[in-house]
Amino acid sequence: MANFHYSHIVCECKKVTLGEIIYAIKEKDAKNIEDIAKLTDATTACGCCKNSEADFGNPKMKLYVEDILKKFV
Ligand code: FES
Repeated sequence: MANFHYSHIVCECKKVTLGEIIYAIKEKDAKNIEDIAKLTDATTACGCCKNSEADFGNPKMKLYVEDILKKFV
């Protein structure tokens, strides 16, 4: 996580940044993927940004919403 800037886009579909997701966790009390989806719209389109298993892209994404939740919740 330390290698990612707050402006790093975690959800490409909805253009949601790492900073927005951390804000949702720390300031809006998001606890899981559903909370993040409601608060930021991340994960609500293709779903690839949830975790590596859901990511059908090639190349894979470098950072997932689940990783961020594990670190901050
Ligand atoms: S990358 Fe997040 S929903 Fe598609």
